[in-house]
Amino acid sequence: MGDFSGGRTRRGVLLVVFWMLGLISLSCAARLSVSKQKLQVQKHLNRLNKAAVKSIKSPDGDIVDCVHISHQPAFDHPFLKDHKIQMRPNYHPEGLFDDNKVSDTEKPKQRSNPLTQLWHMNGKCPQGTIPIRRIKEEDVLRASSVKRYGRKKHRAIPQPIPQPRSADPDLMNESGHQHAIAYVEGDKYYGAKATINVWEPKIQQPNEFSLSQLWILGGSFGEDLNSIEAGWQVSPDLYGDNNTRLFTYWTSDAYQATGCYNLLCSGFIQIDSEIAMGASISPVSAYRNPQYDISMLVWKDPKEGHWWLQFGNDYVLGYWPSFLFSYLADSASMIEWGGEVVNSEPDGHHTSTQMGSGHFPEEGFAKSSYFRNIQVVDDSNNLKAPKGLGTFTEQSNCYDVQTGSNGDWGHYFYYGGPGKNPNCP
Ligand SMILES: *[C@@H]1O[C@H](CO)[C@@H](O)[C@H](O)[C@H]1NC(C)=O
Ligand SMILES: *[C@@H]1O[C@H](CO)[C@@H](O)[C@H](O)[C@H]1NC(C)=O
Repeated sequence: MGDFSGGRTRRGVLLVVFWMLGLISLSCAARLSVSKQKLQVQKHLNRLNKAAVKSIKSPDGDIVDCVHISHQPAFDHPFLKDHKIQMRPNYHPEGLFDDNKVSDTEKPKQRSNPLTQLWHMNGKCPQGTIPIRRIKEEDVLRASSVKRYGRKKHRAIPQPIPQPRSADPDLMNESGHQHAIAYVEGDKYYGAKATINVWEPKIQQPNEFSLSQLWILGGSFGEDLNSIEAGWQVSPDLYGDNNTRLFTYWTSDAYQATGCYNLLCSGFIQIDSEIAMGASISPVSAYRNPQYDISMLVWKDPKEGHWWLQFGNDYVLGYWPSFLFSYLADSASMIEWGGEVVNSEPDGHHTSTQMGSGHFPEEGFAKSSYFRNIQVVDDSNNLKAPKGLGTFTEQSNCYDVQTGSNGDWGHYFYYGGPGKNPNCP
């Protein structure tokens, strides 16, 4: 009995030993692939995060690195190796940049609801540096792959006008992007402006997002679509929280190989030392409470051809060099303003991810989100009211848009909605 059980024990021990060896080799393989991924992520982080002159910890957990202006990610681009940074645009819509500046300093500054970013509470970046939100390991690990980090999914563009390609039902429906927008097309555009109500829409699933922005589009909706985008977004996937953040985007090939959010690839050249792209903004508007908005202007400098970006009245953030683009190297063929969400529910169903305030346009001010004073820049570098403004939404029972115009707000629209509701399964 003793022997028998001893034999069993020995065999048992052997089995356990083999089992453990198996586990060890398995965990070695796992550890090897984990460390390979870690290495890949670390390499990517080293490329993205530039040496900082000073670092500032934001109350929301972000770290903002003040990076010397000539060490920013743009200069990793082979075409920008010998680029001389333009420290200001030559022209501002409606006149020479200097003319505007002079008149600005003569007038007392009218800043209704000044744009602030949370990290400003804990410091400023020194002259000659630009603030860059530091990318953390977990940010990259949330992406489907290191390569996809910081990129929009292919063809996430609202297509109000049926193009040959959008006859393809897959394309219309691709990856559950839902929009409620106003747009103009059929002319040559050299920029766009809007004042955008700021909210913090609720996101139901971590892989969804909700944003409000303007699009400057060039070319058709094919593989070579050019787009410049700016606005605010809530994207747990990109930032790891539900904060409302300023963002930009660009692509010159319909979101395939070129472009990215913010400064997550080389392209955009930042000159401003106060605004960090991808950083949280505060305060945000609340239902039947004080409303906050930010204005954004994107325009093409008629002299150098670069596309400049301005936040508010005071911050000329920087520019996208003209050579990044094909169609937009000349002009834009369409401008869009409005909201976009990703809906992860399949088969025509919806999640309750909100667009704008999460309330429909009918509710109006302090309840529904708005874009006001929307304008385009024409071929004489003048800001003009948009002519022939159209609207588009995939399913108005889920997210809707309504335009209007008056003396104060010029051309405006309310947009957004709650997603899933009794009329939107
Ligand atoms: C974001 O909001 C969703 C619900 O709207 C919540 O489930 C999630 O935990 C929040 N995420 C973070 C990081 O706070
Ligand atoms: C998207 O596709 C689903 C079927 O997968 C369909 O029921 C729904 O109507 C489509 N939505 C749009 C906007 O085409």
